[in-house]
Amino acid sequence: MDTALVVGAGCSLPPGRYGYDPRRHRVHRLGRQPAGTPPGVTAELYVTARRTVSHYGHRAWPLLLLDTGHAAGALFLAARALGCHEPEILLEGMAESPLAAVRVFLPGRTHRPQVLSADAPTPEEILDRRSAPPPFPGTPNERALRAVLGSASHAGGGDLRWCAAVGPPRSGLIELAPDGTTLRRCAAGEARPTLAAWAAGQGWIAEAGAVLIARGCPTDADAPHIRRTHLRAGFAVHLAHLTARRHGLAARPVGSWQQADLGAALGAPPGQDWIVHGLALGTIHAEEENTA
Ligand SMILES: Cc1cc2nc3c(=O)[nH]c(=O)nc-3n(C[C@H](O)[C@H](O)[C@H](O)COP(=O)(O)O)c2cc1C
Repeated sequence: MDTALVVGAGCSLPPGRYGYDPRRHRVHRLGRQPAGTPPGVTAELYVTARRTVSHYGHRAWPLLLLDTGHAAGALFLAARALGCHEPEILLEGMAESPLAAVRVFLPGRTHRPQVLSADAPTPEEILDRRSAPPPFPGTPNERALRAVLGSASHAGGGDLRWCAAVGPPRSGLIELAPDGTTLRRCAAGEARPTLAAWAAGQGWIAEAGAVLIARGCPTDADAPHIRRTHLRAGFAVHLAHLTARRHGLAARPVGSWQQADLGAALGAPPGQDWIVHGLALGTIHAEEENTA
Protein backbone atom coordinates (compact mmCIF):
# COMPACT_ATOMS: atom_id res chain seq x y z
CA MET A 1 0.00 0.00 0.00
CA ASP A 2 1.24 3.50 -0.84
CA THR A 3 0.27 6.70 0.88
CA ALA A 4 0.39 10.23 -0.53
CA LEU A 5 -0.28 13.34 1.53
CA VAL A 6 -2.07 16.32 0.05
CA VAL A 7 -1.21 19.15 2.39
CA GLY A 8 -3.30 22.31 2.52
CA ALA A 9 -3.04 25.42 4.64
CA GLY A 10 -2.43 25.31 8.38
CA CYS A 11 -0.10 22.29 8.54
CA SER A 12 3.43 21.90 9.80
CA LEU A 13 4.56 21.13 6.21
CA PRO A 14 4.27 23.72 3.42
CA PRO A 15 1.25 23.08 1.15
CA GLY A 16 1.98 20.52 -1.56
CA ARG A 17 1.75 16.88 -2.50
CA TYR A 18 4.06 14.48 -0.66
CA GLY A 19 4.97 10.82 -0.92
CA TYR A 20 5.57 8.71 2.18
CA ASP A 21 8.37 6.19 2.62
CA PRO A 22 7.31 3.79 5.40
CA ARG A 23 10.79 2.21 5.66
CA ARG A 24 12.39 5.53 6.60
CA HIS A 25 9.20 7.08 8.04
CA ARG A 26 9.88 10.14 5.90
CA VAL A 27 7.84 12.24 3.49
CA HIS A 28 9.25 13.69 0.28
CA ARG A 29 7.75 16.49 -1.77
CA LEU A 30 6.24 15.42 -5.10
CA GLY A 31 4.87 18.75 -6.30
CA ARG A 32 2.22 21.39 -5.83
CA GLN A 33 -1.09 20.68 -4.14
CA PRO A 34 -4.10 20.55 -6.52
CA ALA A 35 -6.15 23.72 -6.86
CA GLY A 36 -8.87 23.94 -4.22
CA THR A 37 -7.03 21.76 -1.66
CA PRO A 38 -8.83 22.31 1.65
CA PRO A 39 -6.98 23.23 4.85
CA GLY A 40 -5.44 20.35 6.76
CA VAL A 41 -4.03 17.17 5.30
CA THR A 42 -5.55 14.39 3.24
CA ALA A 43 -3.86 10.99 3.30
CA GLU A 44 -4.60 9.11 0.07
CA LEU A 45 -4.29 5.31 0.09
CA TYR A 46 -3.21 3.44 -3.04
CA VAL A 47 -2.67 -0.27 -3.61
CA THR A 48 -0.58 -2.20 -6.11
CA ALA A 49 -2.70 -5.25 -6.76
CA ARG A 50 -0.13 -7.26 -8.74
CA ARG A 51 1.69 -9.00 -5.90
CA THR A 52 -1.46 -9.79 -3.92
CA VAL A 53 -3.16 -11.12 -7.06
CA SER A 54 -0.24 -13.46 -7.78
CA HIS A 55 -0.59 -14.86 -4.24
CA TYR A 56 -4.36 -14.90 -3.69
CA GLY A 57 -5.75 -14.97 -7.27
CA HIS A 58 -9.37 -13.86 -7.55
CA ARG A 59 -9.58 -13.44 -3.75
CA ALA A 60 -6.99 -10.65 -3.84
CA TRP A 61 -9.28 -7.76 -4.62
CA PRO A 62 -11.65 -8.15 -1.63
CA LEU A 63 -8.60 -8.55 0.64
CA LEU A 64 -6.97 -5.41 -0.75
CA LEU A 65 -10.16 -3.45 -0.17
CA LEU A 66 -10.52 -4.77 3.38
CA ASP A 67 -6.86 -3.99 4.07
CA THR A 68 -7.27 -0.46 2.75
CA GLY A 69 -10.31 -0.01 4.98
CA HIS A 70 -8.20 -1.12 7.96
CA ALA A 71 -5.49 1.39 6.97
CA ALA A 72 -8.13 4.14 6.83
CA GLY A 73 -9.29 3.03 10.27
CA ALA A 74 -5.73 3.22 11.62
CA LEU A 75 -5.32 6.75 10.23
CA PHE A 76 -8.70 7.76 11.65
CA LEU A 77 -7.73 6.52 15.12
CA ALA A 78 -4.27 8.10 14.96
CA ALA A 79 -5.77 11.47 13.99
CA ARG A 80 -8.25 11.22 16.84
CA ALA A 81 -5.49 10.32 19.28
CA LEU A 82 -3.55 13.40 18.17
CA GLY A 83 -6.55 15.55 19.05
CA CYS A 84 -7.61 16.36 15.50
CA HIS A 85 -11.20 17.22 14.78
CA GLU A 86 -13.31 14.33 13.59
CA PRO A 87 -11.37 13.06 10.54
CA GLU A 88 -13.37 12.69 7.35
CA ILE A 89 -13.32 9.22 5.84
CA LEU A 90 -13.59 9.09 2.06
CA LEU A 91 -14.45 5.56 0.98
CA GLU A 92 -17.05 6.16 -1.68
CA GLY A 93 -14.92 7.20 -4.67
CA MET A 94 -15.39 5.90 -8.17
CA ALA A 95 -11.88 6.54 -9.47
CA GLU A 96 -9.47 3.63 -9.71
CA SER A 97 -7.13 5.39 -7.31
CA PRO A 98 -6.78 6.43 -4.62
CA LEU A 99 -8.96 3.71 -3.15
CA ALA A 100 -9.59 5.65 0.03
CA ALA A 101 -8.59 8.85 1.76
CA VAL A 102 -8.67 10.28 5.27
CA ARG A 103 -8.92 14.03 5.64
CA VAL A 104 -7.68 15.51 8.88
CA PHE A 105 -8.40 19.00 10.13
CA LEU A 106 -6.02 20.39 12.64
CA PRO A 107 -7.23 21.37 16.12
CA GLY A 108 -8.35 24.95 16.39
CA ARG A 109 -7.89 25.73 12.68
CA THR A 110 -11.07 24.52 11.08
CA HIS A 111 -14.28 23.02 12.26
CA ARG A 112 -16.36 20.51 10.39
CA PRO A 113 -19.50 18.69 11.50
CA GLN A 114 -18.80 15.32 13.05
CA VAL A 115 -18.78 12.43 10.61
CA LEU A 116 -18.43 9.70 13.19
CA SER A 117 -18.25 9.91 16.92
CA ALA A 118 -16.09 7.65 19.02
CA ASP A 119 -14.17 8.24 22.20
CA ALA A 120 -10.76 9.50 21.24
CA PRO A 121 -8.25 6.70 21.71
CA THR A 122 -4.96 7.15 23.50
CA PRO A 123 -1.68 6.47 21.67
CA GLU A 124 -1.16 3.51 24.03
CA GLU A 125 -4.50 2.01 23.03
CA ILE A 126 -3.59 2.32 19.37
CA LEU A 127 -0.27 0.58 19.90
CA ASP A 128 -2.02 -2.07 21.97
CA ARG A 129 -4.49 -2.87 19.17
CA ARG A 130 -2.67 -5.82 17.69
CA SER A 131 -4.08 -9.04 16.32
CA ALA A 132 -3.80 -11.76 18.91
CA PRO A 133 -2.68 -15.19 17.69
CA PRO A 134 -5.26 -18.01 17.93
CA PRO A 135 -6.77 -19.69 19.87
CA PHE A 136 -9.52 -17.43 21.27
CA PRO A 137 -11.15 -19.22 24.18
CA GLY A 138 -13.81 -17.58 26.36
CA THR A 139 -17.14 -16.10 25.30
CA PRO A 140 -17.23 -12.30 25.69
CA ASN A 141 -19.93 -11.04 28.04
CA GLU A 142 -23.04 -9.24 26.80
CA ARG A 143 -21.68 -5.81 27.59
CA ALA A 144 -18.55 -6.38 25.52
CA LEU A 145 -20.50 -7.90 22.62
CA ARG A 146 -22.91 -4.96 22.67
CA ALA A 147 -20.03 -2.52 22.55
CA VAL A 148 -18.23 -4.33 19.71
CA LEU A 149 -21.44 -4.69 17.66
CA GLY A 150 -22.30 -1.04 18.36
CA SER A 151 -18.87 0.19 17.30
CA ALA A 152 -18.92 -1.88 14.10
CA SER A 153 -22.43 -0.90 13.03
CA HIS A 154 -21.79 2.75 13.81
CA ALA A 155 -18.65 2.84 11.68
CA GLY A 156 -19.91 0.39 9.07
CA GLY A 157 -22.38 2.56 7.16
CA GLY A 158 -25.73 1.56 5.71
CA ASP A 159 -24.89 -1.34 3.38
CA LEU A 160 -23.66 -3.81 5.97
CA ARG A 161 -25.43 -5.79 8.68
CA TRP A 162 -23.54 -6.96 11.74
CA CYS A 163 -24.04 -9.98 13.94
CA ALA A 164 -21.90 -12.21 16.14
CA ALA A 165 -21.76 -15.99 16.32
CA VAL A 166 -21.50 -17.32 19.86
CA GLY A 167 -21.10 -20.85 21.21
CA PRO A 168 -22.74 -22.74 24.09
CA PRO A 169 -24.76 -22.52 26.26
CA ARG A 170 -26.98 -20.50 23.86
CA SER A 171 -25.23 -21.07 20.55
CA GLY A 172 -26.46 -18.89 17.73
CA LEU A 173 -26.19 -15.52 16.05
CA ILE A 174 -26.90 -12.33 17.97
CA GLU A 175 -27.29 -8.79 16.73
CA LEU A 176 -28.14 -5.35 18.10
CA ALA A 177 -31.88 -4.72 18.34
CA PRO A 178 -33.20 -1.64 16.50
CA ASP A 179 -32.96 0.36 19.75
CA GLY A 180 -29.19 0.06 19.27
CA THR A 181 -28.56 -0.92 22.87
CA THR A 182 -29.98 -4.39 23.52
CA LEU A 183 -28.92 -7.70 22.01
CA ARG A 184 -31.31 -10.12 20.35
CA ARG A 185 -30.93 -13.54 18.80
CA CYS A 186 -31.30 -13.62 15.03
CA ALA A 187 -30.63 -17.35 14.63
CA ALA A 188 -30.29 -20.38 16.88
CA GLY A 189 -27.69 -23.11 16.43
CA GLU A 190 -23.92 -23.47 16.38
CA ALA A 191 -22.51 -21.41 13.47
CA ARG A 192 -18.79 -21.35 14.30
CA PRO A 193 -17.73 -24.62 12.59
CA THR A 194 -19.44 -23.45 9.40
CA LEU A 195 -17.70 -20.09 9.69
CA ALA A 196 -14.37 -21.90 10.10
CA ALA A 197 -15.03 -23.89 6.91
CA TRP A 198 -16.04 -20.75 5.01
CA ALA A 199 -12.93 -18.92 6.23
CA ALA A 200 -10.67 -21.13 4.10
CA GLY A 201 -10.81 -23.92 6.69
CA GLN A 202 -9.21 -21.99 9.58
CA GLY A 203 -10.19 -24.50 12.26
CA TRP A 204 -9.44 -22.25 15.23
CA ILE A 205 -12.48 -20.10 14.32
CA ALA A 206 -14.76 -22.98 15.37
CA GLU A 207 -13.39 -22.59 18.91
CA ALA A 208 -13.40 -18.77 19.12
CA GLY A 209 -15.46 -17.28 21.96
CA ALA A 210 -17.38 -15.21 19.41
CA VAL A 211 -17.05 -14.13 15.80
CA LEU A 212 -18.21 -10.69 14.72
CA ILE A 213 -19.55 -10.87 11.15
CA ALA A 214 -20.14 -8.16 8.54
CA ARG A 215 -22.55 -9.31 5.85
CA GLY A 216 -24.49 -7.82 3.02
CA CYS A 217 -22.78 -7.82 -0.37
CA PRO A 218 -25.12 -9.52 -2.90
CA THR A 219 -23.83 -11.50 -5.91
CA ASP A 220 -25.14 -8.93 -8.38
CA ALA A 221 -23.57 -5.95 -6.57
CA ASP A 222 -21.89 -3.55 -8.97
CA ALA A 223 -18.23 -2.57 -8.65
CA PRO A 224 -18.83 0.63 -6.59
CA HIS A 225 -21.02 -1.33 -4.16
CA ILE A 226 -18.42 -4.11 -3.73
CA ARG A 227 -15.71 -1.53 -3.25
CA ARG A 228 -17.71 0.54 -0.75
CA THR A 229 -18.87 -2.39 1.37
CA HIS A 230 -15.40 -3.95 1.63
CA LEU A 231 -13.67 -0.65 2.43
CA ARG A 232 -16.32 0.11 5.04
CA ALA A 233 -16.12 -3.37 6.53
CA GLY A 234 -12.34 -3.09 6.93
CA PHE A 235 -12.67 0.36 8.46
CA ALA A 236 -15.41 -0.73 10.86
CA VAL A 237 -13.67 -3.95 11.93
CA HIS A 238 -10.55 -1.92 12.70
CA LEU A 239 -12.53 0.36 15.02
CA ALA A 240 -14.42 -2.60 16.50
CA HIS A 241 -11.05 -4.23 17.24
CA LEU A 242 -10.07 -1.24 19.38
CA THR A 243 -13.42 -1.42 21.17
CA ALA A 244 -12.84 -5.13 21.79
CA ARG A 245 -9.43 -4.40 23.33
CA ARG A 246 -11.03 -1.73 25.54
CA HIS A 247 -13.28 -4.45 26.91
CA GLY A 248 -10.33 -6.71 27.59
CA LEU A 249 -10.94 -9.01 24.62
CA ALA A 250 -8.39 -10.64 22.35
CA ALA A 251 -9.29 -10.20 18.68
CA ARG A 252 -8.11 -11.05 15.17
CA PRO A 253 -9.62 -9.99 11.83
CA VAL A 254 -10.77 -12.77 9.48
CA GLY A 255 -10.88 -11.77 5.83
CA SER A 256 -10.53 -14.91 3.73
CA TRP A 257 -14.17 -15.82 3.20
CA GLN A 258 -15.10 -18.33 0.50
CA GLN A 259 -18.66 -19.23 -0.54
CA ALA A 260 -19.84 -17.70 2.74
CA ASP A 261 -23.51 -17.22 1.89
CA LEU A 262 -24.84 -16.60 5.39
CA GLY A 263 -28.27 -15.53 4.13
CA ALA A 264 -28.79 -18.80 2.24
CA ALA A 265 -27.58 -20.81 5.25
CA LEU A 266 -30.31 -19.09 7.30
CA GLY A 267 -33.01 -19.94 4.76
CA ALA A 268 -33.13 -16.76 2.67
CA PRO A 269 -32.68 -16.76 -1.13
CA PRO A 270 -29.06 -17.47 -2.11
CA GLY A 271 -26.61 -14.84 -3.29
CA GLN A 272 -28.06 -11.95 -1.30
CA ASP A 273 -26.13 -11.90 1.93
CA TRP A 274 -22.47 -12.86 1.67
CA ILE A 275 -20.08 -12.49 4.58
CA VAL A 276 -17.68 -9.65 3.82
CA HIS A 277 -15.44 -9.55 6.89
CA GLY A 278 -15.10 -10.87 10.43
CA LEU A 279 -13.39 -10.41 13.76
CA ALA A 280 -12.68 -13.40 15.99
CA LEU A 281 -13.06 -12.57 19.68
CA GLY A 282 -12.11 -14.27 22.91
CA THR A 283 -11.75 -13.36 26.55
CA ILE A 284 -8.82 -15.35 27.84
CA HIS A 285 -5.72 -15.41 25.78
CA ALA A 286 -4.30 -18.92 25.40
CA GLU A 287 -0.97 -17.89 26.95
CA GLU A 288 -2.74 -16.50 30.03
CA GLU A 289 -4.85 -19.65 30.26
CA ASN A 290 -1.75 -21.85 30.09
CA THR A 291 -0.01 -19.90 32.82
CA ALA A 292 -3.12 -19.66 35.04
C1 LIG B 1 -8.23 -7.56 6.02
C2 LIG B 1 -7.59 -8.53 6.95
C3 LIG B 1 -7.89 -9.89 6.86
C4 LIG B 1 -7.31 -10.79 7.73
N1 LIG B 1 -7.64 -12.12 7.64
C5 LIG B 1 -7.07 -13.01 8.48
C6 LIG B 1 -7.43 -14.38 8.42
O1 LIG B 1 -8.27 -14.79 7.63
N2 LIG B 1 -6.81 -15.22 9.30
C7 LIG B 1 -5.89 -14.80 10.22
O2 LIG B 1 -5.37 -15.61 10.98
N3 LIG B 1 -5.56 -13.48 10.30
C8 LIG B 1 -6.12 -12.59 9.46
N4 LIG B 1 -5.80 -11.26 9.55
C9 LIG B 1 -4.90 -10.85 10.62
C10 LIG B 1 -3.56 -10.42 10.08
O3 LIG B 1 -2.79 -11.51 9.69
C11 LIG B 1 -2.90 -9.54 11.12
O4 LIG B 1 -3.80 -8.52 11.34
C12 LIG B 1 -1.59 -8.98 10.65
O5 LIG B 1 -0.64 -9.91 10.98
C13 LIG B 1 -1.29 -7.61 11.26
O6 LIG B 1 -1.44 -7.63 12.63
P1 LIG B 1 -2.01 -6.44 13.53
O7 LIG B 1 -3.51 -6.48 13.44
O8 LIG B 1 -1.49 -6.81 14.86
O9 LIG B 1 -1.48 -5.14 13.02
C14 LIG B 1 -6.37 -10.35 8.70
C15 LIG B 1 -6.07 -8.99 8.79
C16 LIG B 1 -6.66 -8.08 7.93
C17 LIG B 1 -6.34 -6.62 8.07
